[in-house]
Amino acid sequence: MSTQEQRGYKPKRTSGYASTQTRETPKTPSKAPERPSKAPQRPSIIPIGAFALLLTIVALLIWLGLSPGGEEQVVPIQDTVPPQNALAASDIADAVEEEDSRDESTDEEPKTPLVDEAQYPYYYEEQLAGRYEAFAAAHPEIPLDDVYWMVGCDLDSPPYENVQPVSDPHSILALVNKHYYLPQDFQPQSIVRVSNCSMRQEAATMMQEMIGAAASEGINIWVDEAHRGFPRQEYLYQSYISRDGQAMADTYSARPGFSEHHLGLAADMVLLNDNFNNTPEAIWIANNCWKFGYIVRYTGENTHITQYKPESWHVRYIGVEASQTMRENGILSFEEYWVKYIKYSPRG
Ligand code: DAL
Ligand code: ZN
Repeated sequence: MSTQEQRGYKPKRTSGYASTQTRETPKTPSKAPERPSKAPQRPSIIPIGAFALLLTIVALLIWLGLSPGGEEQVVPIQDTVPPQNALAASDIADAVEEEDSRDESTDEEPKTPLVDEAQYPYYYEEQLAGRYEAFAAAHPEIPLDDVYWMVGCDLDSPPYENVQPVSDPHSILALVNKHYYLPQDFQPQSIVRVSNCSMRQEAATMMQEMIGAAASEGINIWVDEAHRGFPRQEYLYQSYISRDGQAMADTYSARPGFSEHHLGLAADMVLLNDNFNNTPEAIWIANNCWKFGYIVRYTGENTHITQYKPESWHVRYIGVEASQTMRENGILSFEEYWVKYIKYSPRG
């Protein structure tokens, strides 16, 4: 198959060059046509020379892209080479477009991802690179962005291993969990009474507002227990171990020193067991507590972070700015907020 056929080009058959195998081939006349009387002595040479000249001219015309017989000459566009000085603006635009599309197709080729420092979030720390890698390798199911903030608050360590003291225990935004603990003798400042319990002043004020707002909507809520110091937490934890064993107790009770109740910023509302789940009171608290600077601290969505089973009754005061930021940004755990907004700042 010829190149032109490969391109789908069917050459037109020209009338003067029909194959001798076809039926249309005129038969050779029995009598030779008359020639002019002034024919030269070597008539066979002169016509051949003229024919050769004609062929040369025809070939030249074809080479120049002209049709010798005025017939449509189908020339594949890609085979056409226009004179260099004959490029129109549209030709240039087409050429640029073609070059661009070539560039794009090159871009589409798979490339090995580059480790680009500019792609790291602001809470990435070079000195934690080895821990990020190890944690990501051990948990391929965790998105890389989560790996960065989780390692940022030591969630790559098992609970109660490599624990550290809370660096800012008097802050409204102190993080207390199974990795960060309060000293045994820590006492929160400005504790006041609320619903027959004790809380820090600011948390108590906002709790009163929340209880009043709920009441105005026909929802009756109260604080069952709030601040408790190290000795009471120790007593409760040991009694739970006696009843359920340590592994079970660790799913719902903090070890002494590791409880937010010790901060004076946490409160258990109404009913401290799973019967509270999905009650109108629990639903109201889940939907509205953020307006008063509270969060439901242990939920079904953050169990893998907190390592506690959900507690629909346990709320933690963090201030309205923080609770609003968590809500607006879909942040599901205080751990994530603490890394992204307290330990590091998006504002630099
Ligand atoms: N129930 C929560 C986890 C506490 O003991 O602080
Ligand atoms: Zn609690």
